[in-house]
Amino acid sequence: MTDTAKITLGDVSVDSPVLKGSVGPDVIDIRKLYAQTGAFTYDPGFTSTASCESEITYIDGDEGVLLHRGYAIGDLAEQSSFMEVCYLLLNGELPSGDELADFDNTITRHTMLHEQLATFYRGFRRDAHPMAIMCGVVGALSAFYHDSTEIHDPRQRMIASHRLIAKMPTIAAMAYKYSVGQPFVYPRNDLSYTGNFLRMTFGVPAEEYVVNPVVERALDRIFILHADHEQNASTSTVRLAGSSGANPFACIAAGIACLWGPAHGGANEAALNMLREIGRPERIPEYIARAKDKDDPFRLMGFGHRVYKNYDPRATVMQKTVREVFDALKVNDPVFEVALQLEEMALNDPYFVEKKLFPNVDFYSGVILSAIGFPTTMFTALFALARTVGWVAQWNEMISDPAQKIGRPRQLYTGPTQRAYVPVDKR
Ligand code: CMC
Repeated sequence: MTDTAKITLGDVSVDSPVLKGSVGPDVIDIRKLYAQTGAFTYDPGFTSTASCESEITYIDGDEGVLLHRGYAIGDLAEQSSFMEVCYLLLNGELPSGDELADFDNTITRHTMLHEQLATFYRGFRRDAHPMAIMCGVVGALSAFYHDSTEIHDPRQRMIASHRLIAKMPTIAAMAYKYSVGQPFVYPRNDLSYTGNFLRMTFGVPAEEYVVNPVVERALDRIFILHADHEQNASTSTVRLAGSSGANPFACIAAGIACLWGPAHGGANEAALNMLREIGRPERIPEYIARAKDKDDPFRLMGFGHRVYKNYDPRATVMQKTVREVFDALKVNDPVFEVALQLEEMALNDPYFVEKKLFPNVDFYSGVILSAIGFPTTMFTALFALARTVGWVAQWNEMISDPAQKIGRPRQLYTGPTQRAYVPVDKR
């Protein structure tokens, strides 16, 4: 027998079914609530609202657990590759050796961009933020790849998904090359997904670029850590945009726009800027005091999370990866010491303890990306590159769901009630 939740409003009482997931909190199905009571629910920020049913990613924020299709993020980051995680997110199961080789080959053969897009880049100013370029170029893909925009054809949906995953590194690397005034570097099929991206970003036609395997592995791991994260703001944006039937390239461009904000993907850029501004451990207490001051808008960037009320499991892997990259590249950047000490002080401060504010994925990612050589403006573009697979997996899931409808929230209206129009000469 299904559990029900009784909701009583005045004289009307309705029984709403309680749905059970495979794990996680129960969900009260209120789809008929308005028809039965004439009332809406109110939940700005969606703190108590499940917007969809999904089989892709599970988070237990209190325990600090993140699973993709049932696999723990720590195991995936340690033992798999980004290509394997992409396959898993898109198809639901880990690939066999042959399936992985086949998938890798498909992605590799979609990495080139339509040559006309190089001209498109030239429309941007050289100092454009890479995320501005990413929004524009990814949106423009729909004007170049018409043969994969019929969203009700599963094959076209998969081709669009492969194209997006494959082309994103090329698009991001070109955004970087454009900003530094260097020639675009074409992809090379004998390199891994991540090695190819490093070469397209840091290589120049004048000499051979040798991929450092420690950096390649670290960046691949960063991509794994960012691949998907349940119904976060940008993923919900992609789903909402897609719910109207918009083409996949337009939907992912919408996701990129949402990711750009400092409360979401932009936090890695903001976190490194903050660590550099702090500069030396002696100044940490001053910044902790500012973060706690209600009259100061300053927040510790890379700290706190809507869902995690425990250590973000991605931050654990990230902290370990910083050491590996610093050792391999012989980097001695004081910013890492500032980060470690800031983390320790905050985790021992009652304000952060009581509010359950822990380091999130962005706290250390900027430190690593900077050591590899990426400018801060590229950080969010890298996040977008890696999150693309999550976006397309969630978008595919939504379109394949027979219960799918256009997303259309309602509101609590508090503006003026109907009033008479007054002509301008009478006001
Ligand atoms: N520094 C200081 N105080 C904080 C911080 C912080 N980083 N984060 C939250 N708080 C306080 C906040 O002031 C509030 O206090 P009070 O209850 O007294 O008003 C309380 O903690 C709850 O915060 P909230 O803003 O209501 O929580 P939220 O779930 O709406 O916000 C957040 C989550 C991630 C936007 C927020 O923690 C934040 O702004 N963090 C800094 C930005 C950041 O690192 N973002 C990356 C998120 S992880 C990457 C991703 O998934 O995109």
